[in-house]
Amino acid sequence: MIVERDFSTTLLDWFGSNGRKNLPWHDSRDPYVIWISEIMLQQTQVATVIPYFRRFLERFPDIHTLAHASIDEVLHLWTGLGYYARGRNLHRAAQAIITRHGGHFPQTFEAVCALPGIGRSTAGAILAFAYGQQHPILDGNVKRVLARYHGVSGWPGIHAVEQRLWALAETHVPKVHVEEYTQAIMDLGAMVCRRTRPTCGSCPLNSNCVAFKQGNPSDYPGGAPRRALPVKQVQMILLRDRQGQVLLQQRPPVGIWGGLWGFPECDPAKDARSWCRTTYGLEIALDTPWPPLRHRFTHFRLDITPIPARLMRSNTKAMENTKTVWYNVHQPDVRGLATPVKQLLQQLRNLS
Ligand code: ADE
Repeated sequence: MIVERDFSTTLLDWFGSNGRKNLPWHDSRDPYVIWISEIMLQQTQVATVIPYFRRFLERFPDIHTLAHASIDEVLHLWTGLGYYARGRNLHRAAQAIITRHGGHFPQTFEAVCALPGIGRSTAGAILAFAYGQQHPILDGNVKRVLARYHGVSGWPGIHAVEQRLWALAETHVPKVHVEEYTQAIMDLGAMVCRRTRPTCGSCPLNSNCVAFKQGNPSDYPGGAPRRALPVKQVQMILLRDRQGQVLLQQRPPVGIWGGLWGFPECDPAKDARSWCRTTYGLEIALDTPWPPLRHRFTHFRLDITPIPARLMRSNTKAMENTKTVWYNVHQPDVRGLATPVKQLLQQLRNLS
């Protein structure tokens, strides 16, 4: 079919002069090296990955070294890259390659897909890059390119939408130059067909792109239905002493915001004055609450009512066992602060 040949040849032509080359994993056809790069590149930008990739390969140059390393060492080299399950799966997969495949990276799609942490798209990319095998890929960038080009509406999290995109991805895989094609479609998604502000004017595929013709590329791919998130309410007490310092407390080391510093948080059902007296031994006077702030987490929404307060009398003994500090908003020191806390501190700074 003409459209299909056009898609890949057009993309290959574009790649010749516009694609990303000379990335540290590009000069290798070693499936181990390619595997590590593809896992690191999941949900992570190329520029972020490069130093991690270099350090990782220096320490673990091959499957055996990785399989025999301690998980602590693997995760140490992963620190800061995020999505730590990727590091744990790499380690487990290296061990599986030793036991199942005698230490040689497998060459069949089924065997690669069966390794921990490798899904259909990553398996396709590794096999295309390492061995030139013909497989479609469908990572987030490619989903966006295909959804726009073919005008596939609906959220790709819906099975039928994803299946449709896989079917389309399959029709475009060329018989030759699969490696370049695979890199080209990823690069187009990352560099031109971007999620926000796509540069359609310079896209080699724009003459056949449904979304471009409709003038609505940002409608594709469709978004996930927004869930009504449960709401938690909290009062944050912005308590200042006579010097204008603010009381902050360190949160327990676990959970959301674990270990970060924040304002004392009081259940809205409680009276903030008596709560401060029993919790910290502090006598305070409350001022008019500020307008509420809304903070969105993945699984719930936090509605924060900031209540400015003044310290009237303190009992230092009662504060001894609390992880608290009187914080000078004009001379901030080094400590972790959650985003809304940072915003409120900024507002306090602007006031004084
Ligand atoms: N994301 C996933 N794989 C990639 C690759 N090979 N190059 C750039 N971005 C990618």
